[in-house]
Amino acid sequence: MPHKVSLSRLKLTDFRNYASVSLSFDGRHVVLTGDNGAGKTNLMEAVSLLSPGRGLRRATYGDITRVGATAGFSIFAELAGMDGEVEIGTGVDTTDDSASRRLRINGTPAKSADELTDHLRLLWLTPSMDGLFTGGSSERRRFLDRLVLSLDPAHGRRASDFERAMRSRNKLLDERRFDPAWLSGLEQQMASLGIAMAMARQEMLGLLARLIDETHETSPFPAATLELAGFMDGQFSRPAVDLEDEYAAMLAESRYRDAAAGRTLDGPHRVDLLVRHQQKQMEASRCSTGEQKALLVGLILAHARLVANLTGHAPVLLLDEIAAHLDEGRRAALFDLIDALGGQAFMTGTDRAMFSALGERAQFFTVADGKVFE
Ligand SMILES: Nc1ncnc2c1ncn2[C@@H]1O[C@H](COP(=O)(O)OP(=O)(O)O)[C@@H](O)[C@H]1O
Ligand SMILES: [Mg+2]
Repeated sequence: MPHKVSLSRLKLTDFRNYASVSLSFDGRHVVLTGDNGAGKTNLMEAVSLLSPGRGLRRATYGDITRVGATAGFSIFAELAGMDGEVEIGTGVDTTDDSASRRLRINGTPAKSADELTDHLRLLWLTPSMDGLFTGGSSERRRFLDRLVLSLDPAHGRRASDFERAMRSRNKLLDERRFDPAWLSGLEQQMASLGIAMAMARQEMLGLLARLIDETHETSPFPAATLELAGFMDGQFSRPAVDLEDEYAAMLAESRYRDAAAGRTLDGPHRVDLLVRHQQKQMEASRCSTGEQKALLVGLILAHARLVANLTGHAPVLLLDEIAAHLDEGRRAALFDLIDALGGQAFMTGTDRAMFSALGERAQFFTVADGKVFE
């Protein structure tokens, strides 16, 4: 069994519709039920901010801060983390124009939000991801990169450094400054970062595919076949240095073309994640809404297992409205599967009866109008 990471306390101040709320958890799964607009997803969002980035809504800090609050918001959490008991405090002071997120771990200011990944890994599934397979590729890329990040925290830094180098190159090309030394310096950087990014994605998908193969027969959810397309397809068994040279050469050759296009046309920023329903041999985008949801749930749970296997610590799961469209039997199977992962899951729904199959395995809270009752 992987080690269980679990939150024991969550305190919010001026966060969305919560002026002030304090919750204690006993280590079991957490079920939050209440009417639409009660504040269930807001609580999930608060927990999601215990990972680097802007949380599960990717909201601005201004939007997160409670309407009517004068300063900003704060989140405080206590957890049994990957490195033992830890206290995490984070928040933003919106009276400060340069407002970036502040973070304290055990009372000490953290240098970077990446330090959060030493203590917990979070995975989430929300209704806003329902259109993942039918929508644009950038959402799928973001989804893919979050999967990589939960295994390899350095992936985020590589991606943002790549982005920065690419923006500098695009700017030079846009200004028609074809300075070969300057450009090739940036292209070298893009090549080493871009290939590292692409390989990290490829490696994660390989591991995930293997795990899906090993477990799909016992899973109540359909198995997905996963493939990357759009950048150096089929090349990733070759040595990284060769791929870097090739990508750098590709970039050098396409300066005039990219200048005309106004952007860099080749690179890991153009990749798409292709998902297929394995048994049906059908692209996910052409599956029914219910099948797409089932594929997504299966994918997230397989990934959670992968994270647990590789890190030895089960990730905290945020599953917003996950049980809504499942029949009773599938719901019970889902809860068993979640429980078997060995971690703590936060789940929401409008109706408490939907979660009855969890029984004593969960702690139940009612959310109403910015207040929470056990
Ligand atoms: N910054 C904010 N200040 C105050 N209320 C907010 C803020 N942002 C969102 N809300 C309110 O939070 C409420 C609950 O949102 P949510 O958690 O998504 O509900 P649900 O329980 O349906 O998941 C909504 O009514 C919304 O208007
Ligand atoms: Mg909601």
